[in-house]
Amino acid sequence: MKVTVVGAGAVGATCADNIARKELCQELVLLDIKEGIAEGKAQDMMQTATLLGFDTKITGSTNDYAKTAGSDVVVITSGLPRKPGMTREELIGVNAGIVKGVCENILKHSPHAIIIVISNPMDTMTYLALQSTGLPKHRIIGMGGTLDSSRFKYQLSQHLGCSPSDLNAVVVGGHGDTTMIPLIRLATWNSTPVTNFLSAEQQEKIVKDTMVGGATLTALIGTSAWYAPGAAGAALVESILRDEKKLFTCCVALDGEYGQKDICLGVPVTIGKNGWEKIVDFKLNEAEQAAFNKSADAVRSMNDVLKTL
Ligand code: LAC
Repeated sequence: MKVTVVGAGAVGATCADNIARKELCQELVLLDIKEGIAEGKAQDMMQTATLLGFDTKITGSTNDYAKTAGSDVVVITSGLPRKPGMTREELIGVNAGIVKGVCENILKHSPHAIIIVISNPMDTMTYLALQSTGLPKHRIIGMGGTLDSSRFKYQLSQHLGCSPSDLNAVVVGGHGDTTMIPLIRLATWNSTPVTNFLSAEQQEKIVKDTMVGGATLTALIGTSAWYAPGAAGAALVESILRDEKKLFTCCVALDGEYGQKDICLGVPVTIGKNGWEKIVDFKLNEAEQAAFNKSADAVRSMNDVLKTL
């Protein structure tokens, strides 16, 4: 098995580090356009192999896509990250060109790869990857909801004083501060609805804090977060390479599911050796469906910007 991570910034490097530590593949290529950074970080990671006890061979490359040849999975993290006060959407102009170019280069050398998109604005970049490559829809997966759902579980665990691993909670819709929808009504603490234990005010705060989870970190750190985004990317790679068929929220092409078409948006999907395999199309209530439609409208108008670039 071979994996390529494109973009050796904080998210890409963390994703690669997690993939290596879990020995998800024999070969891992870290690639970046900036001279030396991918080689340097790959060597740094390889020097942890004896300390951490992993066997994955990590190679760095400055934009030589020939080194990525034959990758089974490619994670795209390239592009500018957010600065404090910036929305993910403001990155569209620059990142669209970058993501489109990366997809072309990747497919020249790995025509069968499954592509995971992390670059922002993630919903639009996933749609762009699908449109520009013409790949079967199951091979293009946007990571956003996986990250947002883990942030949701974190917020819930803080209020419930419980282990986040005992929680089932999903965020659907877009990966934007105003477009994501934490489904608190359906969240459970080992099968018991969390709403049994939380006041209306607490629920409202949890939902709000989840939605601005990324922006909060960007304000604190000065740039976009990387530990959870990198780990979320690696969790998807793991489910693909081990054919786990785990259920994640991912941004995928909808064809009537949740009442939407011609859009990539976050919904619960199983992830396995074929990429995303099955959308779990459960019934949202009226308010949730209205929020989902509003989220789709916002993402769709962002996708329309692609036509003007
Ligand atoms: C975040 C970026 C990765 O939410 O979108 O932290």
